[in-house]
Order: sequence, then C-alpha cells, then structure tokens
Amino acid sequence: MLDRETKNTPAPLDALVTERLKAQEETGVYRRLRAIPEGHVDFASNDYLGLIQSGALEAAFRAHPLHAHPHHVHSGAGGSRLISGELPEAASFERELAEFHGGESALIFSSGYDANLALITALGQLGGVQMIYDEKIHASMRDGFRLARCRSAHFRHNSLRDLEAHLERSEKIPLVFVESTYSMDGDCAPLPEIQALVLRFGGSLIIDEAHSTGISGEMGCGRTSELLGNGGIGAAIHTWGKAFGSQGAVVCCSSPLRELMVNFGRSFIYTTGISRLHLSGARVAYRVIQQAEEARRALAQTISTWNREVAAALSGASSEVQAIEFSQNESPIQYIRVRSEAVSSGEERRTLLKGVAEHLLQDTLYVVPIFHPTVSHTEEMIRISLHAFNSEDEVKRVLNGVQEGVRQEKNET
Ligand SMILES: Cc1ncc(COP(=O)(O)O)c(C=O)c1O
Repeated sequence: MLDRETKNTPAPLDALVTERLKAQEETGVYRRLRAIPEGHVDFASNDYLGLIQSGALEAAFRAHPLHAHPHHVHSGAGGSRLISGELPEAASFERELAEFHGGESALIFSSGYDANLALITALGQLGGVQMIYDEKIHASMRDGFRLARCRSAHFRHNSLRDLEAHLERSEKIPLVFVESTYSMDGDCAPLPEIQALVLRFGGSLIIDEAHSTGISGEMGCGRTSELLGNGGIGAAIHTWGKAFGSQGAVVCCSSPLRELMVNFGRSFIYTTGISRLHLSGARVAYRVIQQAEEARRALAQTISTWNREVAAALSGASSEVQAIEFSQNESPIQYIRVRSEAVSSGEERRTLLKGVAEHLLQDTLYVVPIFHPTVSHTEEMIRISLHAFNSEDEVKRVLNGVQEGVRQEKNET
C-alpha cells in the first residue's frame, strides 16, 4: 500500500480512488478533517453543557478512585463481550443506568452508532413487526434498517397525521422510531402524542435520546422517563458523545429485548467490548451530569438569547435576513438555511453557505456547513450548536456575522 517504488505509477486501486475523489471534489461537498482552530469560539461541537470545554469532566475523572489504578483503567476489554471482554463492572453499571433513565434493563455499547445498529438488527429478527420511522431519523438508524434487511417505511417529519395513516395500514406490530431532539433540525418530537398513537395501534416506540440526554429530564435523564408509566416504550438510546462529553451509549429496554440484542445485535456481537477507560469515564460523566443544574440553566439562557436575537433580526427584516431562514428551536441545535427563492441553483446555495461560514470563521466563530447527503439538497445549512459557555455577545456576533456574510456574498455575485 505504501510501496515507495511504485509511488509515481499509481496502482489500479489508487487510480480508481483518485478518480472517485476527484468526482466528489467536483460536487463542491468534499469532506475534509479539521480540528477547531485554536482561539475560536465553538459553535459546532455537541459539548452542549461545556463539560469538556470547562474542564469539569477532566477534573472529575482525575479525582475518580479508578484513576488510582491506571493499569486497569487504560487496558482494553480484550475481546467481544460474549467471548472474553465482559467486564464485571459493566453489569452493575447497566443496572444503575436502567434505574436512572428508566427501564427494566440496559445494554452498553462503544458508541451510539453501534447501539442503533444492534437494536435494529436484533429487532429485525422478529417476523411480526413493521418498522416505521420519522423521515429525519439519524443515519445510524437508517443503516440499521439496511443491515437488518427488513421492510421499513417512513412518515413525514413530526406529522402525527401521516404516522397515523401508516399505523392504520400496518398489518404487523408497529415499531415507531423517533429522535427526542432531531440532530439537524433541532426540533423536538411530540413524544406524548406519538406515544398515544402507538399505544392505540398496539405498537412500541423507540426513542433516540442522543441530543436530549443530559440536557432534558430530571438530572438530565432524558425525555423518555416521563413517558414510561403510560406504556408503549420499546427502548430509549442514550449516547454519551454529546452532552455527556464522553464516548459510548446505552440502550434502556426490557430484559428480553436486552437478551435479543446480546443474541442478534450484529454491532454488539462482532466488536470488542467497551474498554475500562470508557466505562469509568462514563461513570464519572454521569456523576457530573446529574449535578450539572447550573450548566443546564446556562444552556437554557444561551438558547433563549439566540431565540430573542433571531426574533429581533427578523423584525428588522433587512434584505439579507429575508434570504435566510433562521431556526428558533427550544434546543441547543439551531441552523441557518438559504431560502429557495433567494438562489437560482444548488451550487449558488452551497457557495453562499460556504461564504457565510468562512465569514464567521474569520471572526473566530467556528461553525460548519452541512451539505447533501447528510441533509437533503434544499435543507443544506450551517448548523449552529449552542452551549452553556457561549456568551450573549458571541451569539450576537454569529447573527450579525451571518447577515454581513450574506450581504458580502450577494455583492460578489
Ligand atoms: C441522533 C443520533 N443518534 C445516534 C448517533 C450516534 O451516536 P455516536 O456518536 O455515539 O455514535 C448520533 C451521532 O451523531 C446522533 O446524532
């Protein structure tokens, strides 16, 4: 692969790879890795409560007794959990997690992606179910449906009427998949209403809490726990890579469903078990999150500042503002999109978004534009993650910067 002799005469594989990458570059949405530049204000990460940024997690982890046994903490699991990688402390932690988030049982994964794949591939073993998902559901769930090779259908985003129509047509037990807060649109699913519908049709609701856990619910337990008493909740997925500032995930569900995942969840069976390092990191993160009321209040303040400043910008209604759609979500996930009537092509939309993002970057405000296929063509956006640590002044700078950026781009074209 790295044979120096042949460096100047590309192997057939290299030629194909280069050709494919060139074609991708021509679409204008080539993906490149980059770290948040030093000194920039973070408006992109999912560290919503600032547990990473403030050093709160780091400090708590260093004070954790497990850290006194670095040899144990730093070693990996040594195998998949079914073969040799089952850590004795995982099962007790799972019991604590089931209690905290609500649910009979819980199963830990190395990532939310693995958790969703395992859950859906396990559910795919059941012949008598019909999977129905919100059209804005995360790629990890979609990949689960593909891997499970099961029939699935989607309903219009957050549309109770469309969901009901699907439920009426379903001849099997319906399993409905939603996110409590959507990762790109930042809006919330009407969970109680969806639950009531699912119950009416004898189905189960699967809730991905990735962007709510740690932020919503008592002590950050998520939005699902409030629904549990009414029934119809099949599983909730809580990921630790976002507000928790860590890595890994847990699925809270019934004991039989946990067993089903252990037996059939492909991304549970065919991967090394979570390491002690991540497990102990997650334990610490739970302790920090449960006491993070001040950070949750600060985040709520940033969200209300954003919504207030957007409302003020909209009432000013400059021509720049009219070209742009600003979200006003009650969550840390906001966006700016270009209205279809403001551009004549997808290329123009992408150029405008890139230009605006670049303008913000020059003012040390770190944001990232999101393009197709992560979102649909017309929904391409600059995703703005709000944090407990973003000041009012920084939020205002983002909103002013967007308007200046649009003005500049429009003048240049
Ligand atoms: C809604 C949702 N579910 C699941 C995941 C996957 O979680 P993880 O990053 O832990 O793999 C993500 C991450 O982007 C997400 O946004």
